[in-house]
Amino acid sequence: MTRTQQELETLSTFSDAPAPAVTRVVFSEQDLRARAWLKGLAEDAGLSIREDAVGNTFLRWQGTDPAAPAVATGSHIDAIPHAGRYDGTVGVLGGLEAIRSLQAAGFRPRRSIELIHFTSEEPTRFGLGCLGSRLMSGVLPASADETLRDAEGASLRAVRNKAGFLGDLASTRVAPGAYHAFVELHIEQGPLLERRKVPIGIVTAIAAPASERITIEGQGGHAGAVLMPDRHDAFLAAAEIALALETSAKSTGAIDSVATTGVCDIHPRAINSIPSRVILEADIRDTDSARRDRMIEKLEEACRTVAARRGVRIAREEINRDTPATCDPGIIETIAEVCETHHVAFDRMVSRAYHDSLFMAKICPTSMIFVPCKNGFSHRPDEHAASEDISTGVKILAGTLAKLANEAG
Ligand code: GLV
Ligand code: MN
Ligand code: MN
Repeated sequence: MTRTQQELETLSTFSDAPAPAVTRVVFSEQDLRARAWLKGLAEDAGLSIREDAVGNTFLRWQGTDPAAPAVATGSHIDAIPHAGRYDGTVGVLGGLEAIRSLQAAGFRPRRSIELIHFTSEEPTRFGLGCLGSRLMSGVLPASADETLRDAEGASLRAVRNKAGFLGDLASTRVAPGAYHAFVELHIEQGPLLERRKVPIGIVTAIAAPASERITIEGQGGHAGAVLMPDRHDAFLAAAEIALALETSAKSTGAIDSVATTGVCDIHPRAINSIPSRVILEADIRDTDSARRDRMIEKLEEACRTVAARRGVRIAREEINRDTPATCDPGIIETIAEVCETHHVAFDRMVSRAYHDSLFMAKICPTSMIFVPCKNGFSHRPDEHAASEDISTGVKILAGTLAKLANEAG
């Protein structure tokens, strides 16, 4: 077993779900234990450690020209409920391994090479993904400290402070020009590389995610006594909206249009009580933001017609509506050259999943390296990436970081 596989296995034990599932929600006890363990590994590798006010962690191998903008890699270690062990973690532990392999080979980077562990790429706790990188890029204002709340109603400020991350949230913003480049290693989370038997994907663009919270207020009542014609069932209205969203995603004619209603909270959630209030959360994505926005318009339309027909009130709240990212042609070319040097086959591809790279692309030239995962499974306990594939990804990442670190400028 490689060192990275061993470390992935250890990291998977910091979990609130029984193996093989992994649940590691940001700033939970398990997340904090995992962070401490990761910092130990970074110390052993001689990296300096800096944490910002939201817990983004910067593990730096200092270059011979410390004033030159650094080259960064990294990803996340938080995991959605009942996830697997490879999403994000491959980019963090694989990034560390890439640095250690360059150190072992006696490489001396001119630019510093920095491994970034981003806080809360997953939206589980605060309802918004890529929290750390959104703040770094300035897309999320510091007022999020009060406006973002977890399910218990605790503010981001309260939760991060309790976890030991103090200071002004505005200080997380990264100064322009701080980074020369960013490259994220990640499992593909889709089936294409495995199907085509291609070990490396080079990401050219990242699809634009949007998410919406939809609150439906109907009328509750006794499940036996209220006659069917008199009902204003909030759940049935919600079900129609979720189906309308599915129809709108399927009818764009593009394979890149996807929509998911992943949250449905029913009040009062009792078998013999008509649902009086439902909160839906829907995730809507496309590589083309105009097409994605048309799906959102269709959702709005469905909300209006269902509200009128069923006599319920429907309020929509936009959680985020991001723009897609275009990856940097120069970095894409560098990764391709490294693959060619190592005789490793690659495909250029888009990422339909979002990543911290979506926001890093706003502050520096960015691309991603994908490795295959079994059956394309992700966000589920049987997510799996083969050791050889991860090692290939690490090798290509190391070669890319080395080239970028010695680039002029
Ligand atoms: C990230 O986890 C995503 O949902 O794309
Ligand atoms: Mn994920
Ligand atoms: Mn991820």
